[in-house]
Amino acid sequence: MSLGDKLEAAWQRRAPLRDAPDTNAYRLLNRAADGFPELAVDRYDDVLVANVYSAGARLRPPAEVLEALAERVGARAVYVKYRPVQASVLDEDARGELAPSAPVLGQAVDRVVVRENGLHFEVRPAEGLSTGLFLDMREARAFVRANAAGQTVLNCFAYTCGFGVAALKGGAARALNLDVSRRHLDWGERNMRLNGFQPVRTDFLAGDVFDWLQRFAKRGQKFDVVIVDPPSYSTTRTTRFSVERDAGRLAALAASVVHSGGTLIACNGGSRFPVMLKMAGYDNLVVLGKSPHPVTLQIDGESPGERRFSGARPGVQDRKPRRLSPWTPARAAQRKSGLPDLRHEN
Ligand SMILES: C[S@@+](CC[C@H](N)C(=O)[O-])C[C@H]1O[C@@H](n2cnc3c(N)ncnc32)[C@H](O)[C@@H]1O
Repeated sequence: MSLGDKLEAAWQRRAPLRDAPDTNAYRLLNRAADGFPELAVDRYDDVLVANVYSAGARLRPPAEVLEALAERVGARAVYVKYRPVQASVLDEDARGELAPSAPVLGQAVDRVVVRENGLHFEVRPAEGLSTGLFLDMREARAFVRANAAGQTVLNCFAYTCGFGVAALKGGAARALNLDVSRRHLDWGERNMRLNGFQPVRTDFLAGDVFDWLQRFAKRGQKFDVVIVDPPSYSTTRTTRFSVERDAGRLAALAASVVHSGGTLIACNGGSRFPVMLKMAGYDNLVVLGKSPHPVTLQIDGESPGERRFSGARPGVQDRKPRRLSPWTPARAAQRKSGLPDLRHEN
């Protein structure tokens, strides 16, 4: 297939997204699936961000592909992010070099507000490797929104609070966003405002997820829905984390703050959670939905830790189990509309 044919096929495949009036941020070119193994191009309205993947040395992004895509969407800027395989373990400075702050095409763009299923998000294309919105979580955000009504939601590794916004838009009773970076949480607060919510400062908690999960567990503070979407690797003042090594600990801690009958939604590394939780003694686990990305688990009964400490009271449940429908991308997309648009006022 010629380069032009591959681009045309990728363009046609995105026709439903291109025609959706409430979404203008999505992946335009997806690596091998579209015939470009080293390249993924994200569209944020009229700004493109090209991600160049490589095993070793930096690869030059193919100018003719970027130019052709820019022309098709009428882009005012194209940025490039270099993603060598070791990018996730590099420190901030080294990561900065992988994300030039000037565009390779067009004029510099500081900020663009995009739409995703009618939600609004601030994207900063020149700010580091991550732009503010991970587009591969679109369906997961739609799922959270469709299942959040009346629920208390803890959004761990909240970043710019995409899941928190989705939860409130779906009528959540509360969305508590937890992230080690105050800067990211401030960004999250701006995203809340963009969607008509008045942010409540106490719902944006700056701290380490591991510290706070332990504190919540100690206090007996629980949530109906806990979302866990960690980076593959991170270092904070108090913890060093890698999904590879720490998924088990994270899974058990997160599950311990889910109300009985509540739901744990695990994204990056989440496919390990069911096995890890069984090993940790969660024998009543129901896997509601499983995809290459988020895994949805219903946590039934008390956590094994509580059972030990309270002298085993099997069957005692602190909340009535609430059955969520299984996670499937199609269902999530289907149910995204027609949900109450509640203001967050507590
Ligand atoms: C991969 S992003 C999370 C994506 C996010 N869930 C979303 O929906 O876009 C990584 C975030 O995790 C935060 N982070 C990394 N390690 C952390 C830790 N130990 N405790 C709290 N936040 C952490 C970073 O500050 C960053 O905002």
